[in-house]
Order: sequence, then C-alpha cells, then structure tokens
Amino acid sequence: MPQVVIEAISNYYRNSNSNSHGAFITTVETDRVIEQARESMAAFLGAVGPETISFGQNMTTLNFSLSKALARFLRPGSEILITQLDHEANRGPWLNLREHGFVIKEVQLRLDGTLDYDDFQSKLSEQTGLVAVGYASNALGTVNEMAKIRAWTSETGTLMLVDAVHYAPHFSIDVTALDCDFLMCSAYKFYGPHVGVLYTRPGLLDQLSTDRLVTQDEKAPCRIETGTLNHASLAGVSATIDYLASFGAGVDFRSQLVNSMNTIQNQEFDLYQKMHQGLATIPGLTIIGPPPDPLWHTPTISFTLDGLNPIEVCAFLASKSICAWDGHFYAQRAIEALGLMEQGGVTRLGISLYTSQEEVEYTIQCLSQALENSK
Ligand SMILES: Cc1ncc(COP(=O)(O)O)c(C=O)c1O
Repeated sequence: MPQVVIEAISNYYRNSNSNSHGAFITTVETDRVIEQARESMAAFLGAVGPETISFGQNMTTLNFSLSKALARFLRPGSEILITQLDHEANRGPWLNLREHGFVIKEVQLRLDGTLDYDDFQSKLSEQTGLVAVGYASNALGTVNEMAKIRAWTSETGTLMLVDAVHYAPHFSIDVTALDCDFLMCSAYKFYGPHVGVLYTRPGLLDQLSTDRLVTQDEKAPCRIETGTLNHASLAGVSATIDYLASFGAGVDFRSQLVNSMNTIQNQEFDLYQKMHQGLATIPGLTIIGPPPDPLWHTPTISFTLDGLNPIEVCAFLASKSICAWDGHFYAQRAIEALGLMEQGGVTRLGISLYTSQEEVEYTIQCLSQALENSK
C-alpha cells in the first residue's frame, strides 16, 4: 500500500475519528471524508456524480445485499444469467436466488479461456432480468466483451451488472460509456484499503427495496449501506485515487486519471508480454487462457507445469522469494470447466504497477529451473 494511503488512514484516526452527521468539528470532517471518497470513486469510474457511489465491507458483501434487493425488484420467476468464468462473488449471491424461484442460467467457458458468446446470446431473452458478468477474469486474465453484452442486454431490456474487481487495477473504467446498471470493485485491488464499491446507474438504487434500518438515510447512495462505514478506509480510498492519478496528466481530474490508468496499462502490458514470451519457451509449461492482447488481457498469467502441482510450483517460487498463488482463486467454476481442478488448479503470476523488469526476468529464470530442481 502506498505510504500516502497509509498516512491518510492514520491521519483520520489521529485527527477526525468520529461518527457522521453531527455539529462538531470531527464529525463534520468525517462527513467530508465520506463525500470526498464518493467524489474520488465517481471520477475513477467515470460516473456522473457521488450519488452513484455506495460503499460496503467488500465486493462480496455488497453483492449479497444487492442480490436481496434485486430479488424484490425483478419479475418473479425471471432468469438471471451468470458465467462459468466469474469469481464466486459474482455467482454465489445469484445462485442463492434459486430459493426465491429465480432461474439461474450459466454461460459456458470455452477451452481457450474466453466466454462462449454464441451460448451467451442463446441464453439471453426477454425473460432475463439480470446479467451478472465479470469485466475481466481474476483466474485467467481474460477481458470480456462488454459492449457486445450491453448491446444484447439493451435489446432484451435486461439489467447488466459488471464485476470490475480484477479489471480496475489495470485499466481505466468508464461506467457512462459502458452504460451498465451496476458495477462493483474493491479498493484493495488497486492499492487501497479493504472497501467494496458499488456504482449504480443514476436513479436506479432509489427504486430498490434494500435491507436497511428505519434510521438509515433512504436515498441513494446510502440506501444500500448498513451501519457505520469504515471512515478511515474511505480517507484511504481518496488518497489511493490521488495516488493513481499521479502517474498521468490532464485538464481535469478525470482526464488525469484516465491518462494515468492508460500509462499503467501500457507499462504492465509490456512486462506481461515479456513474462508471456519467457514462459512460453519453458518445456512442459502450458499457459492457460487467451493470448496477450493490450485490450483483451489483464497482466495476469496462469499456467500449469508438467510434473509439478501448482502448490509445489508456488512452494518452489516461495523458496526463491517470489510470491505466487496456486489454486482456483475463488473462480472455482472456471477451473472446473477447464478440467484443472483435480491437479490443484493453476499457478498464477500477477504483474502490477510496482513490478519491475528484473523481477520478470528473475521469475522466468527461476521457473525454467523449477522442474530440474524438483527431481
Ligand atoms: C474478480 C473478482 N470478483 C470479486 C472478488 C471479491 O472481492 P472482495 O474480496 O472485495 O469481496 C474478487 C476477489 O479476489 C475478484 O478477484
């Protein structure tokens, strides 16, 4: 986490630690912290204003709250379309709605790690109340075709929810251009604290019947927020967005952020390509997922290595001071669909803003020794 974010969080505890909506100085400051965090996130996501941004404990918790509200809003018995590629956080809340009589359909994942768009289109109809789809896969790095999905859902009159948790650290997002109804992300994925973020199309949240106390502000964006927000973390969210903006320039804050995210995207893609090229030359190593593409792949690379389980690969990498994850990363259905569950899933490497070329070269070098060293 950047030092400026840590400082913003600790400064809040030091100077303004209070609940909201009072008359005295620290509570007024807290109101400002909350409002600023909404404004910062609105700029980050290209939203029209702070009233479209709600906060929660994390994306998963917010999505469960939203699913309960949508269960009261969608036509009884209507269909909800989810995908095999998605993280469980964007599947479980919708699968639970089967209890309320909703029919959940699932878009197939192709063996190349992309969604089957023929299957997608064939499962979408005027019966479909909601499509819940990831912007990008945290397991394989696949970026999904949002414009196509929006065009189809507009024709069928279907709400569209986008899980942008994995996409947000690597690309700029424009909810207005996406024209989505809901978009969720999680600040800890883009160098911030543990705060879940929900964008809702202007006016839509006010129509939903959310679980809330009678004492809760009933208007958007507060309508879906329960209890006291994590104010210190919200101070951290604003500092995170300022930090991200510092990598670019622009005539206003939004264009500066877009420029920064594009810079980050290009830098990460460069390293990702180097990693991909290096790994592709290692005998017995199979990269899982679609090929590198600056628009259609995040800088996340998953692979299997003949003769070693992912946990063994990660233990070997750990012995070389490289932190890598093994398994399904909660995108369990995708790993199952690819037939990789039995062997322990995949090994996943992630390139981020702070990854260096030396680290990429070192990782390739270590992985090329992994099989030999294990004998
Ligand atoms: C694609 C994706 N969606 C959702 C989540 C869940 O986010 P949170 O931890 O904020 O609940 C994750 C977390 O890894 C993720 O990668």
